[in-house]
Amino acid sequence: MYAVELDNVNVYIEGKHILKNITLRVPYNTIYVIMGPSGSGKTTILRVINRLIELNPNAKIDGSVKVLGYDAFKIDPYDLRKHIGMVFQIPNPFPHMTIYDNVAIAARINRVARKREELDEIVRWALEKAMLWDEVKDRLRSYPHVLSGGQKQRLCLARALAMKPKILLLDEPTANIDPVNARKIEEAISALKEEITIIMVTHSPHQAARVADHVAMIYSGSIIEQGPVSQVFLNPKTDFTAKFLKGEV
Ligand SMILES: Nc1ncnc2c1ncn2[C@@H]1O[C@H](COP(=O)(O)OP(=O)(O)O)[C@@H](O)[C@H]1O
Ligand SMILES: [Mg+2]
Repeated sequence: MYAVELDNVNVYIEGKHILKNITLRVPYNTIYVIMGPSGSGKTTILRVINRLIELNPNAKIDGSVKVLGYDAFKIDPYDLRKHIGMVFQIPNPFPHMTIYDNVAIAARINRVARKREELDEIVRWALEKAMLWDEVKDRLRSYPHVLSGGQKQRLCLARALAMKPKILLLDEPTANIDPVNARKIEEAISALKEEITIIMVTHSPHQAARVADHVAMIYSGSIIEQGPVSQVFLNPKTDFTAKFLKGEV
């Protein structure tokens, strides 16, 4: 069984064919990286998995999506999203909530914790897992504007983790932050796969090489190649993948 399984998924937006026969299988407790150039459909794949795509009335989807072994289209989307955390490309902490509450709210909503001591514990756990605890433990009552961009993104990672999701979707989480913070996030997610299945989108082959177990190469809405990271990087099957890995596209 797989954590996430897509079979022949097609997405059309305003009649345009955006995802073409996407088939992919994500084993539990691995980091599965979807890489490809801008506009190739990476974000759309993530939005299919958590069904955010359906918020667009002009989107039409067909094919099969299974999450944790269940047909995603037969689960209430709110329940589905309780199992699937997401971190977006631009850090988006809630500006009017303290650092503590940004993380605690996720645990409250998902009923992971309710009592004060339980919440304190999970907030600390999530911030530690996101490798942010030491930098914020003395200012949990401050607001996110005191943080750098990279710290804000790690706060978003902590917020996603506090829901105790089984699956974590990361949409180019380091594209807008500095390299030092990017490495911290990579380190954090590499340690997390023992507990969570991670699907990460990136346009950076270097990042894919550093963190991925499996990679899928997407081009113009199609997966043109996928496999274990070593196989795809050492022996790419398509010219496009070879060029992408060399940074030529
Ligand atoms: N809401 C939308 N309306 C119209 N076109 C969209 C919408 N979302 C995505 N697209 C189109 O779908 C294609 C794939 O987009 P996306 O999944 O965001 O690519 P990526 O994340 O790889 O950059 C692009 O051509 C984009 O313009
Ligand atoms: Mg995108």
